[in-house]
Amino acid sequence: MSVSIPKMPLHLGMPEREIIDPRLDLEAEIKRLRVERKAIILAHYYQDGEIQDIADVVGDSLALAQRARATDAEVIAFCGVHFMAETAKILNMDKIVVMPDSDAGCSLADRCPPDQFSEWLLQYPDHVVVSYINTSASIKALSDIICTSTNAVRVVESIPADRKIVFAPDRHLGRWVMKQTGREMALWPGFCVVHEQFTARKLIKLRREYPEAELVAHPECEQSVLDMADYIGSTNQLIEYVVNTKSVDEFIVATEMGVMHQMRKRRPGVRVIGAEPASGCECAVCPYMRLNTMEKLYLALRDLKPQVDVPAEIAARAVLPVERMLALG
Ligand code: 13P
Ligand code: SF4
Repeated sequence: MSVSIPKMPLHLGMPEREIIDPRLDLEAEIKRLRVERKAIILAHYYQDGEIQDIADVVGDSLALAQRARATDAEVIAFCGVHFMAETAKILNMDKIVVMPDSDAGCSLADRCPPDQFSEWLLQYPDHVVVSYINTSASIKALSDIICTSTNAVRVVESIPADRKIVFAPDRHLGRWVMKQTGREMALWPGFCVVHEQFTARKLIKLRREYPEAELVAHPECEQSVLDMADYIGSTNQLIEYVVNTKSVDEFIVATEMGVMHQMRKRRPGVRVIGAEPASGCECAVCPYMRLNTMEKLYLALRDLKPQVDVPAEIAARAVLPVERMLALG
C-alpha cells in the first residue's frame, strides 16, 4: 500500500538565520558593538557561561529589572527570556531593548493567556492580584503588584491581612509563599517545565550517592522536592547560599544548571551536583533561555533587532504594579 506524504512548505514563515563566519572574534565584536551602540548587556543566571561572562550585569529577575530601571544606556541587550526583556522595555519605553532570540519564551508566561486570566479573575472579585514577574505585559497590566522569587514573601506580607489574594501563575511558588506567610491565596495552576521535572524519588537516590551534600532548590520546584531541601531561594539566593555556606563543600542544585557557573566561579573548589530531571537528561536546562547564543547576541547588537515592543497603553498599566514591587525592593 502506498502512503501519500503531504508536501511540506519550503519554509514555515521563519526568518533565515544568518550564518556567522566561525573565524569572527565574537567576544571582541560584541565588546566593540556594546561601546558603539552605548548598550548595556543584561544576562540572567540561566544563560550559558560565555554570555554571563561578557554581560555588564548578571542577575536574577529582580536584580535585572532593577538594573534595567536604573540604566542610562541607549540600548538594552537582554539575554534572558521574553518576559524579562519586556519588563525592561516597560520600564524604558524610550529606549531600544533587543534580545538575541525573540522566541525565548517561558512556559509559565506562555500558559497564562490574558483572556483566560481575566475570565479566571471574575471568580475573585475584591482580591488583590499578585503576579509573578514570569508573565506577559498584558497579565502585568491586569495585576495589582508583581513579585519575583526573591521578594514574593515580602510582597505578600505587604498586603493588609484583611485582603484576599490571588497569585499567578506558578502554583508551586504560590504554595510555598502561602506556607511562609500563613496567607491563603487562590492559585493559577501554572508550572515551569524545567523545575517540575525534578522529583523527590530521583533526589533521594542522589542524596544517597552524596550523603554530605546539602540540597538547595528554587521555589518553582514541586512541594515534595521543597520538603526535602536544606535551603530554598531564588537563583541569586541559591548562589549566595552556596558561596557563603563554608561549613559544607558539596551541594545538590535543583534549578537550571546555569547557576552553577557563578557558584563555581565565585567559590572555586566547591562541588555542585545538578539534580537530574525526570526526563533522564544529564542536566536541567531551560530550552527557552538556551535559545540565546553569542552569535545571536552579536547580531542583535549589530542590527538592533529583534526589538522588544510593548503597546503603549499596556505598558502604561503594566508599569504601575512593577513599580510597586520595585519600591518594596
Ligand atoms: P529568578 O527570579 O530566581 O531569577 O528565577 C527566574 C526564573 O525564570 C526561574 O525559573
Ligand atoms: Fe520560564 Fe522555567 Fe525557563 Fe524560568 S526555567 S524561564 S520559569 S521555563
